[in-house]
Amino acid sequence: MGEGAFTADGCPVEVYRLLPPGGEPGIVHEAVPEGASILELGSGVGRVTHALLDLGHPVVAVDDSPEMLADVRAEKVCSKIEELRLDRVFDVVLLGSHLVNTAADTDRAAFLATARAHIAPGGRVLVEWHPPEWFESVRDAQGGRLGEVDVRLEQVVHQGNLLSAVIRYSAGGRSWTQAFTCRRLELPALNAALADAGLVFECWCTGDRTWFAAVPA
Ligand SMILES: C[S@@+](CC[C@H](N)C(=O)[O-])C[C@H]1O[C@@H](n2cnc3c(N)ncnc32)[C@H](O)[C@@H]1O
Repeated sequence: MGEGAFTADGCPVEVYRLLPPGGEPGIVHEAVPEGASILELGSGVGRVTHALLDLGHPVVAVDDSPEMLADVRAEKVCSKIEELRLDRVFDVVLLGSHLVNTAADTDRAAFLATARAHIAPGGRVLVEWHPPEWFESVRDAQGGRLGEVDVRLEQVVHQGNLLSAVIRYSAGGRSWTQAFTCRRLELPALNAALADAGLVFECWCTGDRTWFAAVPA
């Protein structure tokens, strides 16, 4: 753990305030039409949200952590993703941060159902996930620097299709830890989960297959 607030899924809020936007906003912007409206599920502090606003996208940011949402400068909704039903639809629903790799199949089904429920005609869901090959590359002590934050993996345990690890974040002499477990999904399992939600795989958005688009079936 460490100082400050943590989300229900164990993310240290202060760390997310320090992390730079990274490549995600550019990947999303490239994959969607100019000015496309975006529903961002699991927005955190707005690391990606704010960059998308700057790129000309109206964004509604959703998170179940009031602390994460506190400084978000977009329209925001404090809700569990699985319970969200806004009476409106969007050109793009963004399900980032590998949430689709949740260990719980019921949560994955609910995340995708929420995404499906909010897509406008002609719209799509953009998903950031851990592709199967990522699970083979994960090792203890892997990591790097993101802005001023040093990020390292510890206690990596592979158990069947599940991978558990602890992420250690360090910045300015402080450190935080976050334990997580994620599930490896082979493509047939991914396609089945999409189909159950009324979605179908459309295309990869990046050459490393870490982002893909899905559309209503
Ligand atoms: C790893 S953080 C990433 C935040 C942001 N997407 C980013 O890249 O900076 C995951 C975020 O999703 C939120 N989250 C996770 N599960 C959620 C759920 N079931 N409902 C709502 N928010 C959720 C957490 O509170 C956290 O803010």
